[in-house]
Amino acid sequence: MPYQGVIARYKKYLPVTKKTPFVSLQEGNTPLICAPGISALMGPKFKVYLKYEGLNPTGSFKDRGMTVAISKAKEEGVKAVICASTGNTSASAAAFSAKAGLKCIVVIPQGKIALGKLAQALIHNAKVVEVRGNFDDALRVVKEISSNYPVRLVNSINPHRIEGQKTASFEVCDYLGCAPHFHFLPVGNAGNITAYWKGYKEYYSHKKISYLPKMCGFQAKGAAPIVRGYPIKNPKTIATAIRIGNPASWQKAIEAKEESGGLIDMVSDAQILSAYKFLAQEEGVFVEPASAASVAGLFMMKKRGYFKKVKNKKTIIVCTLTGHGLKDPNIAIKSIRRPPTVKASVEAVLKKAGL
Ligand code: F0G
Repeated sequence: MPYQGVIARYKKYLPVTKKTPFVSLQEGNTPLICAPGISALMGPKFKVYLKYEGLNPTGSFKDRGMTVAISKAKEEGVKAVICASTGNTSASAAAFSAKAGLKCIVVIPQGKIALGKLAQALIHNAKVVEVRGNFDDALRVVKEISSNYPVRLVNSINPHRIEGQKTASFEVCDYLGCAPHFHFLPVGNAGNITAYWKGYKEYYSHKKISYLPKMCGFQAKGAAPIVRGYPIKNPKTIATAIRIGNPASWQKAIEAKEESGGLIDMVSDAQILSAYKFLAQEEGVFVEPASAASVAGLFMMKKRGYFKKVKNKKTIIVCTLTGHGLKDPNIAIKSIRRPPTVKASVEAVLKKAGL
């Protein structure tokens, strides 16, 4: 059977029935890439893998949850969906709604959406509304609208989103033949850490894995409400995807951290950008800045001696890379020097190319 998306592959673990229409763009089945550059920095007892979610159809992990949320909405006769977004949820909701023939409304913080994501929501014909405010303001508005009007909320507070997203942990375990020992990922609205942890626990209870990983989540320093212990009124970070001051799944993220014996910490924009460049230049993997928070967190924890107590002969670490680098081309161009322009001659090009 050719691959047909996460619902077809994992339906046994998902809230679908024979009556559910599968609205799929063949999301999921993303590569778990071996990262020799990062592994070398960690030392000989460590093997690091990158779960490259940027290779989903709309370029982010959101597609895993959206296929389930939109399929269930369709099954239940819903005609329109709505979400607040820092960009990726809206791109995914817009694409799956287009496929399902549903109306899609997206509410985004004005001027804070990466260019690629805005282009996606617009071209898939979503009704895009910008609000003067941040993601948290947008979420407050869409929650209220969805409780008073016949439109289904497809943010990750919709449990179907979490159900779909948990399939990423299934894929990691199926590929490795075991669980990783540590799972690093960025944290914004905290849906993804919630979903991964749920997935790992389910695989454990089905005896598909014999131990559980420690969940290690990273917020951006200027948008780190969970780490600081209070909501942030004006979250700030270049990683616009995780520019969130009051995460909806805050409590669930704390549960994931505590139950797994992991941690939730924060990384600066400088650390994020440095990991972002490392991934592109040493591993050949182009991600959007928020995605690099997982690897920035790994580097920081290594420096702090977090792994000193690890006794395993081989420790497997998975870092989720949540979104594709092409989502936010401006950041890439801004963080690297512009290419020089020279005369169209062999000599001039060779001279500049340093050959
Ligand atoms: N990385 C990327 C690229 C994201 O787009 C998001 C969230 C996260 C990480 C954090 O995941 O919210 O589950 O903790 N983006 C949402 C959006 C908020 O609207 O696209 P989370």
